[in-house]
Formats: sequence, structure tokens, C-alpha cells
Amino acid sequence: MGALVRFDADGHWLDTWVCDGLIGDELARAGLAWGRWPVRHFEGSDAEAVRTAYGEEIAALRERFEVRSADRVRLAPGHAGWPALRAQFLAEHTHSDAEIRFFLEGAGLFYLRSGEGYLGLLCEAGEWVALPAGTRHFFDAGAEPDFDALRLFADPQGWIAQPADDSSLPALPLFDDFVEHLLALTGHEAD
Ligand SMILES: [Fe+2]
Repeated sequence: MGALVRFDADGHWLDTWVCDGLIGDELARAGLAWGRWPVRHFEGSDAEAVRTAYGEEIAALRERFEVRSADRVRLAPGHAGWPALRAQFLAEHTHSDAEIRFFLEGAGLFYLRSGEGYLGLLCEAGEWVALPAGTRHFFDAGAEPDFDALRLFADPQGWIAQPADDSSLPALPLFDDFVEHLLALTGHEAD
């Protein structure tokens, strides 16, 4: 179950959406495209295997966002390079290209600025999101990352992160705290 949460400028948790239609509408208002595809099981650990399994869906995204290349990122708990990567992902940044991600397994949390506040978008398996070029954002996957995602790029060289001045960022809950709070709110137990 993915979720979208609105935070105010001070980082207070305001509204929570867990319904696909409402998440899509709210993100569209913020200028993001978002959707869900059926979760399919397939062999292969590279981007090509995903393109084969999700041919039609990815073709539609390719056309819509002029996607010209793709790669696949799989991070499992205990990944040795995660602390350094995590620090990089947590720094607020922009790209000159759209950031498009399709989650095959696991979950990840995007934060972006919206109006005076922030939106936190938890993406899970089957969900994709496209952040337009120039969107100030950062990403987290918790102390122990566990996700498999396809990254789609319009620029064949991939994207380069431009650091943003994040000195005004409030303390927003990172992945583990976000999920814990969300589960408490929605009455679910953690696995
Ligand atoms: Fe990014």
C-alpha cells in the first residue's frame, strides 16, 4: 500500500492519503504523474527483463516522458554501501531531467516541496512516479534498504543531482519513522 502525506512548513504531519485515486489527484495537483501497474513475477535481474515483463506500460511512459534509457537498482538489507548512498539520497536536490521510478519490490519514500509545505510519497511494489525536472526532493529507504526499482531517464547519460540549499528543511520523518507512524494511523501492524 502506497501512501501520500502532506506536511506543513514545520514538518508537522497533516493529511494522509492511502487511496489510489486520491493519491493520484493530489500528486497531479503538485505536478507529478503517478500510477500503479499489476505486480508481475518474472525472471531476470536487469532492466531488460522489466522491459519485457512490462512492455506496454513502459512503452507508454517512454512516449510520455521521452525516455531514452533505463537501469535497475536493487538494494537489499545489509548493503555495505548503503550508509554513503543514503546520505547522498537524503540531501535535497533537483535534476534537469524528470526522475521516473517504478518499484518492482520493496518500498522507498520521496519527499518534495509543495506550496509552503512538503509531500511525503511512499512508493511500493507496482507503483511508479515521475517527478518533473527541477522538483526539489530527497529520497530514503530506511536503515536497511529493501527495494528493487527501475529508473527511467530522458537523458541517455542518466541524471545528475544538483544540490539544493536545504538549510530550511524541517525535521521530516525518515522512512522507518514514516512507516511506523503510517501503520499506527491506519491500524496496521508492522510485518
Ligand atoms: Fe533525485
